[in-house]
Amino acid sequence: MSKPLTQQDRMFVLTGAGVSAESGVPTFRGAGGLWRGHRMEEVATPQAFQSRPDLVWQFYSERRKRAESVFPNPAHHCLVQIEEFLGDRFFLCTQNVDSLHEQAGSRRLAHMHGRLMQTRCSRQSCRSTPFADERLYLSRAEIPTCPQCGALLRPDICWFGEVPFLMDRIFEQLRVCTVLLSIGTSGVVEPAASFVRMAHLNGARAIYVGPEEPANSMFFDEVVLGNAGEVLPRLVKELMRPADQ
Ligand code: OAD
Repeated sequence: MSKPLTQQDRMFVLTGAGVSAESGVPTFRGAGGLWRGHRMEEVATPQAFQSRPDLVWQFYSERRKRAESVFPNPAHHCLVQIEEFLGDRFFLCTQNVDSLHEQAGSRRLAHMHGRLMQTRCSRQSCRSTPFADERLYLSRAEIPTCPQCGALLRPDICWFGEVPFLMDRIFEQLRVCTVLLSIGTSGVVEPAASFVRMAHLNGARAIYVGPEEPANSMFFDEVVLGNAGEVLPRLVKELMRPADQ
């Protein structure tokens, strides 16, 4: 049984594709994964966008379309419960670009890989800001251009070879946390794969939840095997129970 949280604890939660799996959003790796039908270099790199923006937008438009019909699952709701319990001592960092955490009610949330439902200018030096966008762009002719500089618009997503968003805030939260809870991430993509090691070096207790051991499982104190939507309701109860029980 997991040790209950105390008044001193600060929790850092890292989520990956697995937390949304029970909502019907496919994970990246493994059977039926998003990277199975696509070469990720063809749809998730700046070079891919330069040479085939239509292919890249088709990939993300397909994901936008699918996102219309998915809803938060018990795992997303459990994280809102812990946030309500801990208040400012809670921080949620997600690698997911879907909006299921905010749909469930999470507020102290950082999308380190960006957001599926946002679009921005593809020119790095352009000062225009990302904007909410749910539209689908299925051909080269449909891709809009930036009203400020004329460059093509792109999904507001961190691709391979790019620096993830909000890293200053994330590193600061990793420095102060006493408990790190990682859910549904394979532990192979940096920098997120190293968060557990960083928190652990600072003395934090680390818990992993997912149906299989992640690649970085050696850095966790507890690995709870199972689907997030099934494991988290019990785990959250254990973490939030009074210390003398
Ligand atoms: P992966 O597809 O690599 O891993 C998904 C993880 O979720 C695996 O470890 C599964 O065992 C686990 N899983 C599956 N079903 C689950 C369930 N019901 N409950 C809990 N866990 C479950 O996805 P990520 O680790 O999130 O980056 O991938 C990290 C990054 O790599 C992504 O953000 C994406 C990708 O390439 C970019 O696109 C930049």
